[in-house]
Amino acid sequence: MYSNKFSRLMFGQFNLKPTSVCTAVWTAAGRRGFSWTAVCKQRTLWMRRGACLQMERRDELRHTGARSVSQSTVDPAELRRFQLLANKWWDEQGDFAALHAMNDLRVPFVRDNLLNVHRAHHLGKPLAGLRIMDVGCGGGLLTEPLGRLGANVLGIDPVEDSINIAQLHSSHDPDLTDSVSYRACTLEELSGVEEGEQGRGMFDAIVASEVVEHLADLETFAFCCNSVLKPGGSLFITTINKTNLSYALAIVVAEQLLRIVPRGTHDWEKFITPEELERLLESNGFSVQSVQGMMYNPMSGAWSWTNSTAINYALHAVKQSDEASDSIFHPEDHATATHN
Ligand SMILES: C[S@@+](CC[C@H](N)C(=O)[O-])C[C@H]1O[C@@H](n2cnc3c(N)ncnc32)[C@H](O)[C@@H]1O
Repeated sequence: MYSNKFSRLMFGQFNLKPTSVCTAVWTAAGRRGFSWTAVCKQRTLWMRRGACLQMERRDELRHTGARSVSQSTVDPAELRRFQLLANKWWDEQGDFAALHAMNDLRVPFVRDNLLNVHRAHHLGKPLAGLRIMDVGCGGGLLTEPLGRLGANVLGIDPVEDSINIAQLHSSHDPDLTDSVSYRACTLEELSGVEEGEQGRGMFDAIVASEVVEHLADLETFAFCCNSVLKPGGSLFITTINKTNLSYALAIVVAEQLLRIVPRGTHDWEKFITPEELERLLESNGFSVQSVQGMMYNPMSGAWSWTNSTAINYALHAVKQSDEASDSIFHPEDHATATHN
């Protein structure tokens, strides 16, 4: 799914000018009886349907006043898919090759943004003293390097087999014994835990890298992120934009035309634009600090930063202080209000 073969389509075409991308996609599509116009039309219909669903959902929230943490972020179909891939996490040339390579960007992205806020006191371990939660950690590809930078990192993932692999892999490095731990659970399970070792308000940062596009409910995700972070804590997200290009490459070409990815691997409906993500986070008590485009070069197998967020992007947001987020609605307030 994240192999070089897939990435070549998913990310690689991005190196071409948009027109050549469109031409390539159009040509490929045309051969299979699709047209670029049809692709765009279908995507527009999806967008309209998505917008209607979102409006209905917002209306529902407004009427019930509820931002429910009882909703789950879990999409069982996604978990089944990752379950089947659980033994492939550490094959650097395999299905997750592009995620391995992405560490070159995302590790410094997290480190440098955290160091802007927290001064480093430990040479060689710049993140020492910080607690980070890696949500949807999979096999621990990002958890481990953050642990090596000195942070105390908790990796969580609902797929137990992935967590077992992550635990086994990190156990081979004595340097990680004290800094990295894993738990098979969801974010909402942890955010329900009262303040304590792993509960609410305990983390300096959350990373959710290539995860939000696999979740069932982003509102719940954002709410729970706020709940487990300390005020001023950082949220780092990397994900796929919801554009014509991402639709064409991830869905039409990769899944429907070339079938190098099983149909249904990515649900374009679940992709999110930086603007939508920013709105969602701001309505959940975050202030977005930066959004940066990322691109993958399939020839070199390397990622680099780019000004365009058309396909992949990284976002850094900060949880606002309690006073600033007093206007945010909390489910307990609703319970109190309705009981009075
Ligand atoms: C594309 S992988 C990314 C893994 C890891 N973040 C990385 O970049 O190496 C997506 C991960 O999200 C996990 N996931 C799916 N649904 C989730 C949920 N509701 N909560 C937390 N993680 C979830 C999957 O099990 C999978 O490990």
